[in-house]
This record gives sequence, C-alpha cells and structure tokens, in this order.
Amino acid sequence: MRKDELSEFENAYTESIKEPEKFWFTAAQEIDWFKTPTKTLDISAAPHGHWFVDGELNTCFNALDRHINAGRGENAALIYDSPVTSTLKTFSFRELRDQVALCAGGLTELGVGRGDRVIIYMPMIPETIIAMLACARIGAIHGVVFGGFASAELAVRIDDARPKAIISASCGIEVNKVIPYMPLLNDAIKIANHKPSNVIVVQRSELESTLKKGRDLDWNDVLDNATPAECVPLKSTDPLYILYTSGTTGLPKGVVRDNGGHAVALNYSMKAIYNVEAGDVYWAASDVGWVVGHSYIVYGPLLRGCTTVLYEGKPVGTPDAGAFWRVISDHKVKSFFTAPTAFRAIKKEDPDASFVKKYDLSHFELLFLAGERTDPDTLEWAQEKLQRPVIDHWWQTETGWSIAANCAGYGLRPIKPGSPTLPAPGWHIDVLDEKSKPLPNGEVGALCGKLPMPPGSMLTLWEAPERFIESYFAEFPGYYKTADAGYLDDEGYVFVMSRTDDIINVAGHRLSTGGMEEVLSSHIDVAECAVIGVSDSLKGQVPVGLLVLKLGVERKNSEIIEECIQLVRKKIGPVASFKKAAIVSSLPKTRSGKILRGTMQKIADNEDYKIPATIEDASVLGKIDLAFQGVGLSNSRG
Ligand code: COA
Ligand code: AMP
Repeated sequence: MRKDELSEFENAYTESIKEPEKFWFTAAQEIDWFKTPTKTLDISAAPHGHWFVDGELNTCFNALDRHINAGRGENAALIYDSPVTSTLKTFSFRELRDQVALCAGGLTELGVGRGDRVIIYMPMIPETIIAMLACARIGAIHGVVFGGFASAELAVRIDDARPKAIISASCGIEVNKVIPYMPLLNDAIKIANHKPSNVIVVQRSELESTLKKGRDLDWNDVLDNATPAECVPLKSTDPLYILYTSGTTGLPKGVVRDNGGHAVALNYSMKAIYNVEAGDVYWAASDVGWVVGHSYIVYGPLLRGCTTVLYEGKPVGTPDAGAFWRVISDHKVKSFFTAPTAFRAIKKEDPDASFVKKYDLSHFELLFLAGERTDPDTLEWAQEKLQRPVIDHWWQTETGWSIAANCAGYGLRPIKPGSPTLPAPGWHIDVLDEKSKPLPNGEVGALCGKLPMPPGSMLTLWEAPERFIESYFAEFPGYYKTADAGYLDDEGYVFVMSRTDDIINVAGHRLSTGGMEEVLSSHIDVAECAVIGVSDSLKGQVPVGLLVLKLGVERKNSEIIEECIQLVRKKIGPVASFKKAAIVSSLPKTRSGKILRGTMQKIADNEDYKIPATIEDASVLGKIDLAFQGVGLSNSRG
C-alpha cells in the first residue's frame, strides 16, 4: 500500500470535517443540476442541516438520461439474473430509460404527480427498479415495502404514507416456493383505513392473479397505453422516497430521503468507497426492500453510470453454494456487496469453498459486507477462500450510506477484523457517555455523529417531525445518535458492538423486538412477554419469546406457543424468523418493574452475567435459564 494513497484519504477526510461545504460542493459538481445550487449547507433548517437547498435536479435524469446524453446509452445499465425463473435479461441505459419513462407516463395518467406517494410491494424483478425510477422521474415519492412483510405490516405503511397508487406483482419466488403477493396486498388494503385509487400489477407467468375491476391495472396495459414522461425538475430537498424501518415500537419509522444530498453522496460513495467508475459492473446481493437495495442495487450504481446486477435468488439453494461466484464470473462483477449472513450460509454448505475454484473470478476485486457486524471468523474465511480484501462497513437506513468504511477509492487501509475501519468522509464520530461526554479510546459508549450529518442522510421522518428530533437528536445535543454502542481504538478505528435499543438484526434484516412483543401481547392467553435477540450461527441473531400466561389458562403450552409463532408470522411476516418461545411463570424485573432483557440475553447466549443489584427476585433467573434450555439455548448448548 502506498503512503501517498493513505494521505489522499486523510486529506479528503480532514477537508470533509473542517470544510464540509467546500468538500461537498466539489462532490456536487459530478451531478447534473437543472439549477445549480448556490448554497451548499443550510444549518438553520434542522438540527442536522439541509444540503444544496436552492438547487434543482432530477434523480432519475442523473441515473439514466445523462448517461445516454453522454453517449453511453447502449451500455448495460441493469442485468437481471434470476436463477429461480431461469431468466437472464440485460437492459441498456436507453432501454431502461424508455421503460421508466413509459411507467412514469402511466402513473401521470393515473393522476400521480409530484409529492404523491406510491407504495411498491414487489419481488426482485426489473419492474421494481423501473417503478422506483418512474416515481423519481415525476417527483412522486416511492415507499418500497419488503416482500417478506405480512399484510398487517404493509397496512401500517399504507396508512402512514397514504399512497395514491400501489405497484405490485402477482407473486414472488423464494427458492422453489411461489409466494402469491396479491392476497397479502388485498388483505392489507382491507385492513388499512386509506384506500389507494389504483393498483398496478405485474403478472408473472409463474402465477397470475385475478385483478379487481376498477382498481387493478395490468402493468403491461399501463405501459402500452402510456406516453413517455420527461424528468420533472425537483428541489434538492424534495423527498425522493420514504423507507420504513424498525423503530422501538411496532410503528415503523418512515425515513425520508431527499433528492440532492442523496444523489451527491451516493455518486461520491461509489468511487470513494467501492472504487467503481462508469462502465464497471457492481453487484449488491440484497433486496430492493432494504436500504442496501435502494442505495446500492438501484441509485448508487446507476448514478455513477455502472452496470448494476439484480439477482433474484439466494446465496445457497439456487441452485448451490456457488451461486454468488457464478454471478460474479458471468457478469464480470468488480465490486460485490452482501451481508455476512449470506457468507455464513455459504460457509455452512461449502466449508472448503470448493465452488470458488469452478469460476473465473479475475474481474472481481473487492468484497463488501454490511447490515450487521462481520464476525472475524466469517471475514477471515472469506478473505482466505477468495484471496480478496473483505471490507466490513457500517451504516443504517437513516444514513443511506457508510458511517464508517475502508474507502477503497483512496487506497485501502489495513483491515482489522471486527472493525468497519475509519469514519467515512463527512462523519465525525465520538463515543459518548450518558452525560454526552466523549469517552477515552477503548471505552464502550454511545456511537454518535457530530452535526451536521453529511449529504445522503435522512431528511426527516415522514410526517413525524417530533419523533425525528426525539429519536435522534434529543439525547446527545449537537450529535446524531446512531443507537449503536461501540468504541474507537487508538488509531481511530470504529468497533460497533451492539444496539442500545431493542432492535435486532436477523439475517441482516432489521427488526424490532418491541414490535414482536406488541404482537405476542395481543394473544388472548398472554399476560406479559419479552422478546430477546439471541446469537445464531447462521442469522447472527434470532428472536426468542418468553411468555407469561394469564391466571387460570389451562390449555396446552405447546398449543399456545404454536399460536404465538403463527401470530408473529401473520402480523409481521416470515422475515421475523420467530420460531422459538417458552412459557415461564414470571419475568425477571428490577424493583421498579423494568424487565431485565439484557440479563436474559446473556443467559440465553451462555455468557457471564452479574445479577443486577436492583433485581426484584433473583430466583426467577434460574427458571429463565431452564426455559431457555428447553428450547435448545443457554447451558444446553454446553
Ligand atoms: N418475500 C417473501 N418471503 C420472504 C422474502 C420475500 N422477499 N424474503 C424472505 N422471506 C421469507 C423466507 O422464505 C423465510 O420463510 P420461511 O420461514 O417460510 O422459511 C423467512 O422469510 C425468513 O427469511 P430469511 O431470514 O432470509 O431466511 P432464509 O432461511 O430464507 O435465508 C439467508 C437465509 C442467509 C440465505 C438469507 O437471509 C440471505 O440470503 N440473506 C442475504 C443477505 C440479505 O439479503 N440481507 C439484507 C440486508 S443487506
Ligand atoms: P439497517 O437500518 O437495516 O441498515 O440496520 C442498521 C443497523 O445494522 C445498525 O444500526 C447496526 O446495528 C447494524 N449494522 C449495520 N452494519 C453494521 C456493521 N458493519 N457492523 C455492525 N453493525 C452493523
């Protein structure tokens, strides 16, 4: 590694912190503006600042049209690789733009315009990306809902966003299971108070749905009859999308992203972090329903003019543990991004990585992991088997891109397993105690980002300005609270250890244990409950429920547990992976009544724990231990 490359990063980082306006003004020159911003940062706007406030642009124009105008119209923009349907399809920038313009025209004809919301509940098919970009083209705000969520979760999002239209598909395909989407969507619309005027449905040949007259329209009919729509100039701070993510209650947070800051930051990150340029092939194996999918399947690569891969499959089982290497080889992927859980799944099935040897990976340079902490075992395994740098990077739905990363575009820093390396440009990270005082290196505290947050960070929470301030800015004045705990080492490397709230990460999916507790509490026999995230060798964490039954309930425990498991699956969705629960006579609490979830989690994970001095009745802990053993956790694992 060259010394001057290291200093290039240091220079960039220092400028981003000391002179953020200069730094991001320069980055903004790489975006095409309809009206060039004269003001880079407006700190009066909100606690975290608004970016490029008087600029006007269109994100879709920057993702598609400008590449065509620059003569790259015939380059591949999107490769759809679907082992579950045996489909491979490539769209050039021109072909993708034409489809997007037609979809945008179709939406316009349905009365959808600037500021209107469109919910997108779809599987990993090109139409999902086309729908997102079509909304961006006309200034409609998309809200993509992950397909693994059930009707009730979808209904909450419909009521919160109040969409004029919903775009969906007849089905999704999970390995070899066909999941009908329309019954889920119809139920959600039935539950929701808000009713969309229209639903546009992509009919997939694996399962066609019956359309509701007067409300539902076939995707092909909408596009066939549409006039292509042009890009609408939007204010930099106009919302591009709402993406719902788990909060500490059952009500998800609607993270709102702007147009200007988002385009500047993502375009910058593609080179600075992932080291790719226009013409390179970039692949993020995630789902468009998550922030990783928004930022790095759709917007980031296309803004930069890269080819993006849309993969409808899994790391294993479609058809085998060599699936990722096959895609990387077939499409000449240069930078690849996925979640550590995917690697654990591959390692479990193919511990010697025998499939790696079958493919030509000569174009493949860098592997990026995020969504959860990359455990050193997984990192070292991947590094050894692939003989490529494996880069852990830390970010959140709220930030839209990395808070900490090893910025490959500036030359890699030494990798320390267990750390996502250094704060990314724009992020000054301090570790704070509960009085907001910075802690010395090595001490664990609240990881907080000094304000302003860099471009690309959330604009607000959808129609919840007070929750926005309360959740992120009230506890540590002058800082953004990440709600992650961790520490910095003497070289400034960040170590992210755990969440400070009740969010858990299951197979890289962010879920609220509080939300699951709300569902369990609604079961007729449950008096009280707690859900905790316990370690899992594949998914990182999985939820486990402890249920206290109402007095006098005499039904079989196993029946009640099964009903509770089904209830979470029905109300939240299969993605919750809620498969284990035990019935206990009481929960351990402090004398003031607070449930000791942290202590229970340590018992379940077989870790050392101290009996809290404030505990009401310490004997309950022994019973909890036994209950965990009954579901294969705690000491039973030995
Ligand atoms: N639509 C409908 N159902 C879905 C779904 C979707 N889009 N995504 C997941 N599900 C279902 C699964 O079929 C599964 O259902 P089941 O309980 O009937 O088996 C359930 O939700 C849990 O899914 P998941 O947690 O993904 O577990 P899995 O065993 O199916 O797969 C992995 C495990 C590791 C292979 C998988 O999680 C994976 O590929 N992860 C990659 C990382 C990733 O995408 N992370 C996202 C953020 S970067
Ligand atoms: P999400 O909003 O779904 O992207 O989830 C964000 C949360 O996932 C963070 O607050 C962290 O708790 C966790 N997370 C994401 N990436 C990492 C990482 N590289 N290391 C540790 N935790 C991570």
